[in-house]
Amino acid sequence: MEQYAIKGGTPLVGEVEIGGAKNAALAILAAAIMTDETVTIDNLPDVRDTNVLIQAMESIGVIVERIGRHSVKINAANVNSLVVEDDYIKKIRASYYLLGALLGKYKRAEVALPGGCNIGSRPIDQHIKGFRALGADVRIEHGLIITEAEKLKGNHIYLDVVSVGATINIMMAAAMAEGQTIIENAAKEPHVVDLANFLNSMGCNVKGAGTDVIRIKGVPRLHATEYTIIPDQIEAGTFMFAAAATKGDVTVKNVIPKHLESLTAKLIEIGCEVEESDDAVRVVATKKLTHTHVKTLAYPGFPTDMQPQITVVLGLAEGTSIVTESIFENRFKYVDELTRMGGNVKVEGNTAIIDGVAKYTGASLTAPDLRAGAALVIAALAAEGFSTVDEIQYIGRGYEDFHLKLRELGAQIDKVKTERDFQKFKLKVG
Ligand code: UD1
Repeated sequence: MEQYAIKGGTPLVGEVEIGGAKNAALAILAAAIMTDETVTIDNLPDVRDTNVLIQAMESIGVIVERIGRHSVKINAANVNSLVVEDDYIKKIRASYYLLGALLGKYKRAEVALPGGCNIGSRPIDQHIKGFRALGADVRIEHGLIITEAEKLKGNHIYLDVVSVGATINIMMAAAMAEGQTIIENAAKEPHVVDLANFLNSMGCNVKGAGTDVIRIKGVPRLHATEYTIIPDQIEAGTFMFAAAATKGDVTVKNVIPKHLESLTAKLIEIGCEVEESDDAVRVVATKKLTHTHVKTLAYPGFPTDMQPQITVVLGLAEGTSIVTESIFENRFKYVDELTRMGGNVKVEGNTAIIDGVAKYTGASLTAPDLRAGAALVIAALAAEGFSTVDEIQYIGRGYEDFHLKLRELGAQIDKVKTERDFQKFKLKVG
């Protein structure tokens, strides 16, 4: 199995180019099947999650033509099955976006029910409530969610919890429903806005995305478009916090600074300098880092997908910090690994109490999930000595060329397969 070999202690310095947003891409790829005309999507990240979704789409007859590493042409005129197999759902939960897209276009879809995930239980009751409100019958049989409707009719839907996935799935189903749908208490994440802009570019009429009330006037037909996905704010944030942890100076380029405000604010609070320009943010971490409190919230609050990364940084900040996870209940699994590096973090329920230490020391680590995996890489880059990180396939789900981008910033990191490779790496970097 591949793992990362890392020698820590080098400040990250330089510039890094951020790719397209994975979570926006997943929604947009699924929505692209809602027209029979050809859709071109640019700035698509080349990561495992988007590639698996593309495979799931191909499995139902969608033609996907790669016209470059980050561009695809999609044609869904000849969809030959409305059943998305379990295999894809097992690999990525977001395959369930095909439910909303297929239901919207064909008024029927069958998708395997997503199981539990390693960051906590992830119900889909709000998705189902939305489909039912639009007039669809939804039943769960033999592990499949089967949804069908004679016709979909716009309705007023109030979400009981702010859910990105439910907002996106309902928007897609409503895009081709008769009349107007109003989603109240909608998610406001940048990728929800990006999906709305994409649907509008195909001829739909979506207003209010980015606020908590989204209005969708359905249209009978959607048409061809060419669309560029927004930059990934979590990839950007990961490099910003890597700069902070390693006492570096990193400029993340090709970003929308507004999407990074909750991250920038925390970095300034703990003692970093952050300079913003039109499409870049520079993080300089020369001063001593100090403690703070963080609570994860829906956008524009501090994102749960950055919780492990900020915890790693606060583990090196002077004083006692508190991180409260309010979105997913089981997202502190990486903390045991930090303890093995000399970190002093205690988890009580959904709260981590962090007593900053002067340094981490290298250890052999295992990535428990995507974002925690990236956070452990950051910890290893900041640590004294050598580390290995196992289960890096999780990191590949959402970061393109992660170790290559880090290396461009001066990190001593490589992908290795065997103990021998690791020893060679040690000799090489000294
Ligand atoms: C999306 C992101 C994920 C991010 C999360 C929160 C994608 C592909 N994934 O996940 O990276 O961590 O948003 O920003 O975009 N909930 C319900 N019932 C539902 C749906 C959700 O109770 O029907 C709850 C969840 O358990 C959770 C909260 O709502 O506590 C937010 O979940 P949601 O926003 O739906 O997350 P995802 O869309 O799965």
